[in-house]
Amino acid sequence: MDLVVKPGGILQGEATFPADKSISHRALILGALSIGTTILKGFLQAKDCLATLEAIRSLGVDVKFQQNGHLHIQGVGLTGLQAPSKAIDCGNSGTSMRLLTGLLAALPFKSVLTGDSSLQKRPMARVVEPLTKMGAKIFAQKSAALLVAPLQIEGMPLQGIAYTLPVASAQVKSCLLLAGLLAKSNTVITENIPTRDHTERMLNAFGCDIKIESNIITLSPGKALQAQEMLIPGDFSSAAFFIAGASMIPGSHIKLRCVGINERRIGLIHILKAMGANISIMDCTEENGEPIGDIEVKGSQLQGITVPAKWVVSAIDEFPILFIVAACAVGTTHVQGVAELRVKECDRIAVMAKGLSTLGIKVEELPDGMIIQGGKIKGGLVESQGDHRVAMAFAMASLVASKKIVIRDSDNIATSFPNFCEIAKQLGLLIEADV
Ligand code: S3P
Repeated sequence: MDLVVKPGGILQGEATFPADKSISHRALILGALSIGTTILKGFLQAKDCLATLEAIRSLGVDVKFQQNGHLHIQGVGLTGLQAPSKAIDCGNSGTSMRLLTGLLAALPFKSVLTGDSSLQKRPMARVVEPLTKMGAKIFAQKSAALLVAPLQIEGMPLQGIAYTLPVASAQVKSCLLLAGLLAKSNTVITENIPTRDHTERMLNAFGCDIKIESNIITLSPGKALQAQEMLIPGDFSSAAFFIAGASMIPGSHIKLRCVGINERRIGLIHILKAMGANISIMDCTEENGEPIGDIEVKGSQLQGITVPAKWVVSAIDEFPILFIVAACAVGTTHVQGVAELRVKECDRIAVMAKGLSTLGIKVEELPDGMIIQGGKIKGGLVESQGDHRVAMAFAMASLVASKKIVIRDSDNIATSFPNFCEIAKQLGLLIEADV
């Protein structure tokens, strides 16, 4: 379906956001592997996390929403999962597929993981190769030079691994830590570039024997996980659209409540501040090892910058909206070192560059980034290629557009942020037709 947004508006008011997607996936998986009942307050009921939920149910775990919206997971322990009766469909969700591959590779049964047409194009060698070194048997499809899903997994006992991540990927790290939970020896992972550390924080909260020294994570298997009660913070990557949208419109003023502010996720705030944004983080607390705070944003005229490499990974999901911000900043913004964007839900460099050109912005596509000349955004028809974050980013562009923007194929907003349109309207986006 197409999302249609009229030009203009400013963002004003307060909002809370649906729960963090990365944390929801992990809490569900660790809850299933624990002893006792895990209670999740605020589990993200979006398509990606619901794909993990169905996967966990198909492995024999009783998972139920209560009337108060809490999710109860009856943990079966580290070795209690059962063989699924059919292929597990991860839909659009790379996190579901990569994390579950690690888990299933170490369990004593066969399983198949599949997904939608986007997920079936995404690179899986990054998990298949290290898991194979641990002793796993995984049969992937070959497509051009890539190993892709469906993945056929013949689960078996694995050895631990000492592995330095060749790509900065929290999904790969988490996949190996989950496999490591069931392995016969320690798993030691070195990351040269820090990625989101929700898995490590949560494993620690569930009682796993995990140690972190500088950039080296050591997981010792064998210790049972204990069920937890958890409040999942609002998703920074959903709030990001509004943080960026309000930052770029003088006169905007918003307060976003109870958002996850883990330092490894908030690169966007550092980048926006370097562009001149007025953003403050207040009232911080911590829940199960994850920092939570309120974020206040006041709009101003932003300046183009060269995005420092040190903030790229902690802003990796925010580049679609950052490209929009750059398009309405004064001057030129250079983004490099983001080749990973080409293997997300779509090729986010190519699709954003094409859409921005359609909207009248001068861009130069680079193999690993983009150079964007700030300018005047026209209206027009842009393709999201079924990518949720591309669709939401172009919706925010309407705030500075001169005519309406129609965003094709926007249904997948529901993979991460089902009530995006509702919150966007509440804060001031002029949505004419929602999805
Ligand atoms: C995620 C990690 C990131 C991110 C994705 C969610 C996670 O992917 O882009 O949206 O939950 O671990 P990579 O690990 O591929 O960088």
